[in-house]
Amino acid sequence: MKNLQELHYFEVPTVMKHALGAVNHLPGELEILGVKKPLIVTDQGVVKAGLLDMIIKPLKDASVSHVIYDQVVFNPLLATVAAGTEMYRKNDCDGIVALGGGSSMDCAKAIGVEIAHGEPVLEYECAEGKKELSKRVPPLVCIPTTAGTGSEVTLWAVITDPAREYKFNVGGPLIAAHLALVDPLLHLSMPAEVTAGTGMDALCHAIECYTCAYAQPQTDAVALLAIEYAGKYLRRAVAYGQDIDARYYMAMSSMLAGLSYGAASAGAVHAMTQTMGGIFPVHHGVAVGSTLVPVMEYNWMGEPEKYARMALALGVPTFGMTEREAALSAVEACRELTEDIGIPRLREMGITEADIPRLAQEAFNDPQTIGNPRDLTVAAYEEIYRRAL
Ligand SMILES: [Fe+2]
Repeated sequence: MKNLQELHYFEVPTVMKHALGAVNHLPGELEILGVKKPLIVTDQGVVKAGLLDMIIKPLKDASVSHVIYDQVVFNPLLATVAAGTEMYRKNDCDGIVALGGGSSMDCAKAIGVEIAHGEPVLEYECAEGKKELSKRVPPLVCIPTTAGTGSEVTLWAVITDPAREYKFNVGGPLIAAHLALVDPLLHLSMPAEVTAGTGMDALCHAIECYTCAYAQPQTDAVALLAIEYAGKYLRRAVAYGQDIDARYYMAMSSMLAGLSYGAASAGAVHAMTQTMGGIFPVHHGVAVGSTLVPVMEYNWMGEPEKYARMALALGVPTFGMTEREAALSAVEACRELTEDIGIPRLREMGITEADIPRLAQEAFNDPQTIGNPRDLTVAAYEEIYRRAL
């Protein structure tokens, strides 16, 4: 553990409930939270996959009135948030249900910030000169339809400011969901490439948070199990979408990895991919998957003992290996996983050599660079980007 003089804290304001068929409990859960007319925040992909119907049916059966905002786009913009806030106000809603991946859940959290504070969420960016959150968001239920972001339990939302081509963070305990309702049955229809990308995001949250400077025993504990589950079940979930066990444990991996964020941030992969996502329309999880191994190759020397422990969690028989060999075997295990599940390279996402200097500089400026297990420079980021290309 680093920074022993610093006061560490770990707070989880979110109640977590999970089961196959958990969404059928939504009406009762809204009643517990005192919500009579929720705004349902979701996106067109979720609607087309028939997942919205799966939560509307129990609401209708229980005569719970609701309003649907289904215009969330991936990498949600300030305007995406503002339109949802407007809809909430116009319809006198008194709570929010987020149904979707990180984009819908983060958008819902940001709508909650605007409703609670009566100001645009941009005022509450996690940056110098901006305001701290002072009010709790309205009752918020997060129902993830992917297993990756963990946003249902994190204290963060990531929103894109198109004027700056920048994805900014807003967060703290006041933004967290009141309830995470996890139903792996919603994950069965996820296409293989989405399963792969989002699953790598979960694995990466756990790896970065386990090895970053903000790590502490509480986050280490959940991160290690998240790594173990992803190592064991991600291939199966990608290979056969209807594998219920694989879907369940990937949902748990994602949630545990979300908890491993604690109150802090991740590391170089997230510094790179968040800044990249503000400039290029890349899918966050896929971008994470393509940069994770090159970052691990760079980082392992900063936390060799923890890398060796991760190898064990990933199923590598490390008995008899030196610490260096075991640490490097964790990198190798992640490389094999990345290749097995078909994560594309950055080049295939439209990134070119010419983009690297700007991307490296932006990643270096990102607050998540601080806390990475190995010191970074712009030149180091450039080298990592080249390996991921
Ligand atoms: Fe992520």
